[in-house]
Amino acid sequence: MSFPATRMRRLRRTATLRRMVRETRLSRDDLIQPLFVVEGSGVREAVASMPGVFRYSVDQVVDEAKRVTDLGVPAVILFGIPAAKDGEGSGADAADGIVQRAVASLKRDVPELCVITDVCLCEYTDHGHCGIVEAEEVANDPSVDRLALTALSHARAGADVVAPSDMMDGRVATIRRTLDEHHFPDVPILSYAAKVASAYYGPFRDAAESTPRFGDRRAYQMDPPNRREALRELELDLEEGADVLMVKPALPYLDILAAAREAFNVPLAAYHVSGEYAMIHAAAERGWIDGERAMEEALVAIKRAGADWILTYAAASMAARLGS
Ligand code: PBG
Ligand code: ZN
Repeated sequence: MSFPATRMRRLRRTATLRRMVRETRLSRDDLIQPLFVVEGSGVREAVASMPGVFRYSVDQVVDEAKRVTDLGVPAVILFGIPAAKDGEGSGADAADGIVQRAVASLKRDVPELCVITDVCLCEYTDHGHCGIVEAEEVANDPSVDRLALTALSHARAGADVVAPSDMMDGRVATIRRTLDEHHFPDVPILSYAAKVASAYYGPFRDAAESTPRFGDRRAYQMDPPNRREALRELELDLEEGADVLMVKPALPYLDILAAAREAFNVPLAAYHVSGEYAMIHAAAERGWIDGERAMEEALVAIKRAGADWILTYAAASMAARLGS
């Protein structure tokens, strides 16, 4: 039966009808708030390229985490910016490093909040790459060893979930083995499994001071055009022991997210990255779009494509907009 018997507009006529036939509902439960932690105390500095995003010292990040929790957001992901950087990224696995101290404070003061840590070396290395550099290349296996120690140090500090974002081969297996050997068999791994060498990370690198000093990340992060390869990355990380698989960025890679949803029976995460967030704010500031509606539309699309967890800088503000 088609027109005139069938009229699709019938079920769109009122807000109540639309509510009754809505297929996807964004919820506060879906959202994860990224937080940047810096040295010092009393620090709350705005990130110019990401309106509404700040860099907090450990004391201040606790207050922000309480606010995020009160708004109903279940989890945060922490990024640390250390005072000093070196060739090996020594700060990354320091027992008293910036992220380790932030995790300990958060677990003490906001125990119900799920604290996820980003596991990478790029914020801690003086060259800004995600691993150890040998002969001007990022050396895979030495990097994996450092990343595993970093994940272990986060678990020791009390992290609920560790999230490797470096894109070295084999790091999920090594992190899993290291955690298990040191009596952390219950700490899950959220793997940035299909992470693309993307232009959309620009604002993040300002915030995290992690722009590579030479070259770029294309020899370890994925090439944007490759869908089959992305599925293989996801499959391998699952085999290596990842508990949750991430696709990143989100909107430009919804096809990969949707394919992953079909292929794997594990929770999926998508990272609505800094550039995606910044673009919406930039257009809204010019009065060209309704920023809040555009943000909600973006996040609903990510959920519709198959994400269970959505990492977004808009988590707290969207939770406030969505209510309970
Ligand atoms: C670190 C890391 C990056 C992001 C998350 N973890 C930057 C990068 O890989 O260059 C990007 C997040 C964003 O842009 O919001 N490896
Ligand atoms: Zn990195």
